[in-house]
Amino acid sequence: MCGIIGYIGMQKASTILIEGLKSLEYRGYDSVGIATLDHGRIRIRKNIGMVSEVADSLKFEEMEGTIGIGHTRWATHGVVSEENAHPHFGKSEKIAAVHNGVIENFAELREEMKDHRFRSETDSELIPHLIEEHLDGSFIDAFIKSLKKLEGSYAVVAVDAAEEKLYLARKNSPLVIGIGKGEMFCASDIPAMLKHTRQFVPLEEGDIAILTRESYQIFNHDGKTVIRKPITVKWSMEQAQKSGFPHFMLKEIHEQKHTVSESLAANVDKAKKLIENHERIDIVACGTSYHAGLMLAYLLSKKGKNAHAYIASDYPFIAKPDEKTLMVAISQSGETADILQAIKAKSSGKIAITNAVGSSIARICDATIYMNAGPEVGVAATKTFTAQLAIVFRLAYEKVPEPGNLIETMLSKEDEIRKIAEKLSKKEHAFFLARGSNVPIAYEGSLKFKEITYIHSEAYPAGELKHGTLSLVTEGTPVIALAPKDETTAKLLGNIKETKARGATVISLTNDANVKKESDYVIDIPVVDARLYPLALAIPLQLLAYHVSVLRGINPDRPRNLAKSVTVE
Ligand code: M6R
Repeated sequence: MCGIIGYIGMQKASTILIEGLKSLEYRGYDSVGIATLDHGRIRIRKNIGMVSEVADSLKFEEMEGTIGIGHTRWATHGVVSEENAHPHFGKSEKIAAVHNGVIENFAELREEMKDHRFRSETDSELIPHLIEEHLDGSFIDAFIKSLKKLEGSYAVVAVDAAEEKLYLARKNSPLVIGIGKGEMFCASDIPAMLKHTRQFVPLEEGDIAILTRESYQIFNHDGKTVIRKPITVKWSMEQAQKSGFPHFMLKEIHEQKHTVSESLAANVDKAKKLIENHERIDIVACGTSYHAGLMLAYLLSKKGKNAHAYIASDYPFIAKPDEKTLMVAISQSGETADILQAIKAKSSGKIAITNAVGSSIARICDATIYMNAGPEVGVAATKTFTAQLAIVFRLAYEKVPEPGNLIETMLSKEDEIRKIAEKLSKKEHAFFLARGSNVPIAYEGSLKFKEITYIHSEAYPAGELKHGTLSLVTEGTPVIALAPKDETTAKLLGNIKETKARGATVISLTNDANVKKESDYVIDIPVVDARLYPLALAIPLQLLAYHVSVLRGINPDRPRNLAKSVTVE
């Protein structure tokens, strides 16, 4: 949510900022703006709309200067408007800043600055004003003094008209420095800078940094220098772009033929030992990652562990880890605010499962398992979900069965899935049913479906149908049954018949002859070790959601109201 990009070098800053902002689009935003510093003067241009539209209409490219900051805003404080878009000036036009996060005490702080004229309703505008208020010596002193006054979360980049420098700070909101030759970058995430460098320094909580063309310096809140080693990222630009697919989501679905094996090879040794040594395991996650968490809880419970998956935002209200509890945080972005809040709880140990090297969650935990799925740009999690499943299998099973060409086989069913999608695209509701270890996949299939098709859908353990939901099943209601042949099939078949008897259109993902007989449409699942069925089922459900979305004229990469990285609670 919200994206930041900053540049200081010898190239035209506006060009680099526009490119960077485009690659941050997936985070979700409603307005966009940039500021450049040219001959001691800061100029800001900003408005509501998409990056390309705003950049074209306001002629960003014409803005001169080799230093600049840019921002995509996703409204939290104040309506979507030009005034509320970032960057913001301070009292004068000598300081400009962009901000991600939420300043909780902004009303009190604004009250203290009665003589300042604020141009927006945002909490963010306060930051350049505060800096200016404190500016009676060096900029860095004023910056640090201002940050000390802020309660809440922030990633801030500020520019001072009097200096050729960028000033950065982070607290509970990501900010990464990119190191170039004679130029420096900063952004909310790595893909925004990949075109220019592979060397990065993710800022840690409380870090404050100064960028010049040649150097970066990092301090703590007392102004003491801290050393952060750069990391080198191997992702290619191509990986971070569409590679000829019409959407990132489809590209990312197809990438699973490589990413699943990468994730299966992840280093889980330390985490596995921690799991072995703990009886109680609390798993915290949100959305898709929560479904992977449910799978982990299910498989560890089967092994006799006291394992539960919790929705991270509710965890503080319903559970409390004790000194013997191991916590597992699952998050592709590693920056989800609800998870960061949940894992603040004191516990005996913490494991992170994340795709983001150097992310906040990775840094807080004692053991981190990286998913190795490469950058995921589509808002809908796809390859990171199967990456999470692969890691869950590694943690739960002594030896994971070899998937062979299972992923390719499932991907090869895209044409038949598209035909089924045509039938579904005109419906208003859909139900996803499963039993046992396939239930988390039904939840995930349903989430993906509603997230990008805007069709109402629900998922149930099939046994729950007759406890309420069956009343909604009428002529033509789509019921998507996850029914590969396993210990649950006989009972699931009974549930499928119950829906069929009420006129449901049954689409089954199965390899069972009896289920096939009851189905209107079948997506054939190969016969494999039953432990791999969740992986096999996840892929056709992603393809189904994708094609229904496209058939309904929706951009699956950017579903309305949603953001890729949810950095506010
Ligand atoms: O980055 P995280 O895994 O922590 O994100 C959690 C959810 O916001 C995320 O999985 C969301 O549900 C996806 N957009 C679903 O496709």
